Amino acid sequence: MPGPRLAGKVAFITGAGGGIGRATAERFVEEGAKVVVAEINAELGEAAAASARAKAGNGGGDAHFIRCDVTDKASVTKAIEETVARYGGLHILHNNAGGSTPQDGTVVDASEEEFWRVIKLDLFGTFLCSKVAIPHIAKSGGGAIINMSSNLALMAVPGRAAYGAAKGGVASLTRAMALDHAKQKIRVNAIAPSVTLSNRVKALLDQNPALAQMGDSHLFGLGQPVHIANMAVYLASDEAAITTGQVMSVDSGVTIY
Ligand SMILES: NC(=O)c1ccc[n+]([C@@H]2O[C@H](COP(=O)([O-])OP(=O)(O)OC[C@H]3O[C@@H](n4cnc5c(N)ncnc54)[C@H](O)[C@@H]3O)[C@@H](O)[C@H]2O)c1
Repeated sequence: MPGPRLAGKVAFITGAGGGIGRATAERFVEEGAKVVVAEINAELGEAAAASARAKAGNGGGDAHFIRCDVTDKASVTKAIEETVARYGGLHILHNNAGGSTPQDGTVVDASEEEFWRVIKLDLFGTFLCSKVAIPHIAKSGGGAIINMSSNLALMAVPGRAAYGAAKGGVASLTRAMALDHAKQKIRVNAIAPSVTLSNRVKALLDQNPALAQMGDSHLFGLGQPVHIANMAVYLASDEAAITTGQVMSVDSGVTIY
């Protein structure tokens, strides 16, 4: 029988206190990885790390919370150095922290504050964590970076201009990093989920019946966080040895409908 798919790997998952990041931390631990839940909200981060630790079987998996603000270089540097000191290296960076808010809109309606908020969190946060993590991943012999894009990088949805711009940037940054760091044996891919039922998105859908109707155009219904987490396991594992620079849709077919 094959062993756990991420045995011996050390992973740093940002925004892993909730939703997709938390589900990914749980799946990575199940697959034998040592996972740092890097999260700005300590309460959510501690709870997610405990729940991920509970998934460890005999495969060597573990999880630990470290507070981290992905938009702050000192915070990111400290969190990644602590990760390497605790677990002896770094192989996987999952740039997951991010998300849209109801303050997004058309370029005319959306505020400048919302534009810079989402660019700073989703795009700059991805740039910054990668900048700090890549030398450590290279020193550990290579590994994988998984960025979080969105179906909104691939199709237009009304009133989501700022978020779409940030996630389109993440898709382009993914290709740039994949090319630049292949020689260091680092693969870089992104996941493009469509509507995925994290608590944050469930609350958005409850407030907005028009958004909730989007389920009609999803061929297998709206996604659950574990559907995205399963793609992250594949991209993080050696099974994806020649997959790099890709934006992988996990979207219930919405981009082809
Ligand atoms: N849920 C969806 O429908 C969906 C669809 C496409 C893409 N995505 C993307 O997937 C990712 C996760 O989405 P989710 O729905 O699970 O979100 P979520 O809101 O449930 O979780 C995001 C986590 O990030 C944390 N966070 C926020 N700012 C941070 C910061 N500066 N530093 C560190 N952590 C921070 C939050 O506290 C939260 O725990 C996001 O990048 C989002 O854009 C989500």
